[in-house]
Amino acid sequence: MDNDTLLSIESLSFGYTPERLILDNINMKFKRGSVVALMGGSGSGKTTVLRLIGAQVRPQKGRILLDGTDVHSLSKQELYGLRRHMGMLFQFGALFTDLNIFDNVAFPLREQTDLPETMIRDLVLMKLHAVGLRGAARLMPSEISGGMARRVALARSIALDPHLLMYDEPFAGLDPISLGTIAHLIRTLNEALGATSILVTHDVAETFEIVDYAYVMSGGRVIAEGTPKELGASTDPQVVQFLNGRRDGPVKFHYPAGPIEKELGL
Ligand SMILES: Nc1ncnc2c1ncn2[C@@H]1O[C@H](COP(=O)(O)OP(=O)(O)O)[C@@H](O)[C@H]1O
Ligand SMILES: [Mg+2]
Repeated sequence: MDNDTLLSIESLSFGYTPERLILDNINMKFKRGSVVALMGGSGSGKTTVLRLIGAQVRPQKGRILLDGTDVHSLSKQELYGLRRHMGMLFQFGALFTDLNIFDNVAFPLREQTDLPETMIRDLVLMKLHAVGLRGAARLMPSEISGGMARRVALARSIALDPHLLMYDEPFAGLDPISLGTIAHLIRTLNEALGATSILVTHDVAETFEIVDYAYVMSGGRVIAEGTPKELGASTDPQVVQFLNGRRDGPVKFHYPAGPIEKELGL
């Protein structure tokens, strides 16, 4: 593996059950320092790819190399160490409602390090500062907006200075302004941490503003990949349909069915 690559997914196939393949021979590369999008419709396998990278589930075939190490060859102990260098913002990842903003961000530091409380305090305030919410440290989650809560979750996911950041639909449910703020924060934090980020999303316009590269998935396969510019110029009907959010195209709105007149006896 060349040294520019932090993470590579090679000929990976996976199914939650042996009968049904969810990912079918996936190949992806993630360059150090880059922000890469995984895009595709609901059920196309995006979250499953993140789970495989975090080694929460094992592939049936293929491998995932992180810094040259196959993550699925590691012992439990080694995996635990590895995960400390991964930051995850889970889909619908909520804050602890009974902890204030400060304690939410401090949580992973208190759980996973032996740092003295004075140092934790400085680290938490720095992370909150990075997302523009140092002034909100003493507020409770119920006292802040949805967009702010997402920024706190972002600060929490970077608390341990991860090398690899994975965001699963970080824009879900946000208004356009908060969405733009989170998108740009993801880019800024990636630079500040010297990290590599993977962004699962289907908000094409905002994503294309901040990513270096994107993979488009459909039905457990990579159907297209490239820089935003390359994908934007694609004439592949499936890619065009996805990027334009059109209902009509090769990906059908209707699940296959017989004629409705016949079924209704008309
Ligand atoms: N824990 C699970 N057990 C069985 N099937 C699952 C599980 N999680 C997801 N799936 C199935 O795997 C497919 C891909 O899911 P997922 O990776 O969550 O897609 P996406 O994140 O792109 O919406 C879907 O068909 C989904 O129903
Ligand atoms: Mg998902």
